[in-house]
Amino acid sequence: MKNNLSNIKKSKYYLDKNECVAIPTETVYGLAGNAYSNKATSKIFILKKRHKKNPLIVHYDSLKTLKNDCYVNNHFYKLYKKFCPGPITFVLKLKKDSKISKNVTNNKKTLAIRFPSHPLTKKLLKLLSYPLAAPSANISTKISPISKKDVIEEFGKKIKFILNGGRCKIGLESTIISLVGRPKILRLGGMERSRINYILKRNVQYNKIDKIIVPGQSKLHYSPGIPIRLNILKPKFGEAFILIKKRKKTSKSYYYLSKTKNLKQAAKNLYKILRKIKNKNYKSIAVEKIPNIGFGEAINDRLKRAST
Ligand code: TXA
Ligand code: MG
Repeated sequence: MKNNLSNIKKSKYYLDKNECVAIPTETVYGLAGNAYSNKATSKIFILKKRHKKNPLIVHYDSLKTLKNDCYVNNHFYKLYKKFCPGPITFVLKLKKDSKISKNVTNNKKTLAIRFPSHPLTKKLLKLLSYPLAAPSANISTKISPISKKDVIEEFGKKIKFILNGGRCKIGLESTIISLVGRPKILRLGGMERSRINYILKRNVQYNKIDKIIVPGQSKLHYSPGIPIRLNILKPKFGEAFILIKKRKKTSKSYYYLSKTKNLKQAAKNLYKILRKIKNKNYKSIAVEKIPNIGFGEAINDRLKRAST
């Protein structure tokens, strides 16, 4: 506990100096910097090799601090009450007098924000006098990190500090919903769409690839760097095989996301297993059919992008 506190203070020390620090969240690790600072946010883009036009998500600890930067509305309040802090990101209208760095928004009039629930990051945010811009802590298009070890694999010694918060509970990025105009889901993720529908009492559409809105959402992403074949019954010789239900016959090249078709568990294991396979010299990956319901929707989305 004492150790955690000193690590949180160390994170603050670097962040206050406009350096980047990797932070744990319930979804994936983020590469964080002061969202009000041009210097800190430009470092995030350089470290990640991220396209300048791809805007960042900003992390807050309270509604009060959020209101310095964004306008909120009824849809927001309903979802906020039910799900925050948690794995849901809102796209809201940016206030004219907000101090958010232009790097974060790519000069747009909207801002993606969320309230992470990881206790260490919540504590860190409380100590800071600014919110944290934090994309996933991986090199652009690569697999998102779900542990300190993964972050090290992505960046080596290039980042000043990693706040170790253990393995991420959800293991998949937040669900992104735009609340500017009619609610629209922009990215499937750690919050199931059916739960959002239930709260908003409507069937919120998932706007797949919207060329203006989310450049980072298109094509190659979450990639282990080798071909992936989906909906496969039987793998080819020498292929890694990803499964969600236990088979009678098994093999060293079988990787289980779940042994009982538990989709939440499968989502949690997805990046861990993709990373494991990536580090094992397979030439390709086959994936068994995954039902496109609940967390299955987000898993299939990530696998499709990884296979492009
Ligand atoms: O779970 C998460 O959301 C993690 C953790 C660290 O919070 N963060 C994360 O950030 O996944 P990132 O940068 O890897 O993905 C953010 C996505 C990008 O696809 C970006 O294009 C989109 O959010 N985005 C950011 N601002 C936006 C905006 N104003 N309008 C639409 N999309 C936006
Ligand atoms: Mg990412």
